[in-house]
Amino acid sequence: MTRPIDLRSDTITKPTPDMRRAMADAEVGDDVYGEDPTVRALEERAAEVTGKQASMYVPSGTMGNACAVLTHATAGQSAIMDVECHIYVYEQGGVSALGGILPLLTNNDNGLPTPEDVQGHLDRPAWLHPSVGVVCVENTHNRRGGSVAAPADLAPLHGVTSAAGVPLHMDGARVFNAATFLGVPVADITSHVDSVQFCLSKGLCAPVGSILAGPDEFITRARATRRRLGGAMRQAGVIAAAGLIALNDMPSRLREDHDNARQIAEQLSQIETLGMDPGAVQTNIVIVRTDGIGVAAGEVVERLRERGVLASLYGPTMLRFVTNRDATRDQVKEASDITVRLFEEIIEEKKGTLR
Ligand SMILES: Cc1ncc(COP(=O)(O)O)c(C=O)c1O
Repeated sequence: MTRPIDLRSDTITKPTPDMRRAMADAEVGDDVYGEDPTVRALEERAAEVTGKQASMYVPSGTMGNACAVLTHATAGQSAIMDVECHIYVYEQGGVSALGGILPLLTNNDNGLPTPEDVQGHLDRPAWLHPSVGVVCVENTHNRRGGSVAAPADLAPLHGVTSAAGVPLHMDGARVFNAATFLGVPVADITSHVDSVQFCLSKGLCAPVGSILAGPDEFITRARATRRRLGGAMRQAGVIAAAGLIALNDMPSRLREDHDNARQIAEQLSQIETLGMDPGAVQTNIVIVRTDGIGVAAGEVVERLRERGVLASLYGPTMLRFVTNRDATRDQVKEASDITVRLFEEIIEEKKGTLR
């Protein structure tokens, strides 16, 4: 059988030949002693790109977010975040289980807590409510369709958090996609948050790793948190070497993923009942809602799999496609055609049932 067209996630991307060569040749040392030159080069470059004083290499985005939240906030404090954000939905409740931190959830269409949401929590009597330890935003926002928070969206929020002395953390797993969409340097976005986590292992194609960046003293404390979580690594230069290529060479390829995602959305917009708006697809994520057709997303994902297209199940009536380097333009076109045909068939079958 031919290989399926894998649009489940951008995390499925394999390291490029350049990355594999750099990994084989990487100069390494014991990074727990701060002696791995390749990790240090990656951390310095990542700090530069995000416009922060320092950065720290971590094995995963989940650990980067955990290090951030557990370093910013302490047990009994709250973390304000969107109800659909990755930290809340997909990270095994780490901030609560490991840090005793209480998520306070907001629910706005763009996935950003508003300045009013945050101010409302800050204004509550301090003797009665948990104090706010950190505010988290996600950019791009995965479950809200890869949507982008622009500097103008973040600045007012950062104004409120800064005035209250509360850190603003960005889960920027795909912040390079946001920067690509906006046509601005990543630092223009991250200048509006105090710390940022971003993934090298998604559209940027590194096999492993994320970065947490922020002020010097914060990163020093975050290194202790990483140690506590078991995330300090030894000759990590072997993987950081691929991370450096991801950081330096791969952001320019993200435009291609965005164009491919738009192509999927445009083709799916032929099926009116899907209510797909291609204009709303800003980056490499396409969320498809099947409510209008009255079919379970699980059935669609399964039938697509049988036809050689892999998508992710995202809820009872929600599935997700993520374009990535390992699916070519032609394959994306083929996957879109297959998906359109499947939906047409399902609609016909439904008519049959109704007759
Ligand atoms: C928005 C967002 N944040 C964090 C992560 C976590 O990254 P990792 O899978 O490296 O832990 C992901 C991964 O899919 C993500 O989509």
